[in-house]
Amino acid sequence: MKAIVQYKYGLPDDVLELKEINKPVVKDDDVLVRVHAASIHIGDWHLMRGVPYFLRMMFGLRKPRNSVPGNDIAGKVEAVGKNVKQLQPGDEVFGWCKGAFAEYACAGENNFVPKPVGLTFEQAAAVGVSAFTALQALRDQGKVQPGHKVLINGASGGVGTFAVQIAKSFGADVTGVCSTRNVDMVRSIGADHVIDYTQEDFTQSGQRYDVILDNVGNRSLSECRRPLTSRGTLIPNGGEAGLGRFVKALVLSLFVRQQGRPFLSLPKKEVLVVLKDLIESGKVTPVIDRTYLLSETPEAIGYVGEGHARGKVVITM
Ligand SMILES: NC(=O)c1ccc[n+]([C@@H]2O[C@H](COP(=O)([O-])OP(=O)(O)OC[C@H]3O[C@@H](n4cnc5c(N)ncnc54)[C@H](OP(=O)(O)O)[C@@H]3O)[C@@H](O)[C@H]2O)c1
Repeated sequence: MKAIVQYKYGLPDDVLELKEINKPVVKDDDVLVRVHAASIHIGDWHLMRGVPYFLRMMFGLRKPRNSVPGNDIAGKVEAVGKNVKQLQPGDEVFGWCKGAFAEYACAGENNFVPKPVGLTFEQAAAVGVSAFTALQALRDQGKVQPGHKVLINGASGGVGTFAVQIAKSFGADVTGVCSTRNVDMVRSIGADHVIDYTQEDFTQSGQRYDVILDNVGNRSLSECRRPLTSRGTLIPNGGEAGLGRFVKALVLSLFVRQQGRPFLSLPKKEVLVVLKDLIESGKVTPVIDRTYLLSETPEAIGYVGEGHARGKVVITM
């Protein structure tokens, strides 16, 4: 099968190549999926370079442990192991795996659920890590309730476009922060108010919020907490500032009431099912910025790495 492979850390054109490799072997508990589409998230950019360096402790010290990158896919079940009960060949599914940027990918049965009715493979592949993060941030960390005022900083990106829609589905009054070119898009996906960060500083607006989801991390934690109500929660989710900010937020969360804990989103079947329901009830629709061919994956990851994606970037086979 064709796959994007990576045997060292570095920049896309230096380390990613399209190669013919063996199809994954289906073990007893596994499902083999013929990948129709895969999506990229900002973590793929970080993992490809192995930066920040602490990532290498988890994903391979000298080179990536998994030579085929990518996590989020949608496709058709090609074969199942003998213990698999809920899926069968021909089923259209979406979910997560190791080695998404390939024609076939293999993972346990619980990594996949049936593709949401009415979604294309490209849209279904776009859900993945970004939507997991948005849902877990707002539901589990922020405990968003109907009527809450919620601000999403970085509302136009992969996580942000899901977060705006999920917060609306919880009955929140949602403010999205984005740049001028994305104001209409962020409003179109349901934001009640939009702050153009090139014109206005959300930390100085005088408004108060119950929950702030910060997907950008370009402001200090205390600046981000300033527009919160006294019982409000800041959810720090801007990974670019690295380990220092993560640790600082973690320590502050022990002492400062408004400071939420930084978190790592975990892919779970339960979350995938909730997202499928939100999509099928029309409350959430993935926003796709660009699609690329598998052979164009280096360009696609480079684009995401620039930090200005408008929703999700998808690879089609
Ligand atoms: N906790 C976890 O487990 C987890 C999982 C996934 C991602 N994350 C983190 O979540 C963050 C967001 O990820 P993502 O996938 O949404 O990134 P992304 O798709 O690259 O989003 C980038 C977006 O940020 C916007 N942006 C850039 N500067 C901004 C500013 N000053 N104010 C407001 N918006 C700004 C950009 O809009 P413009 O083009 O308009 O500037 C763009 O739409 C990252 O830091 C990532 O590391 C955490």
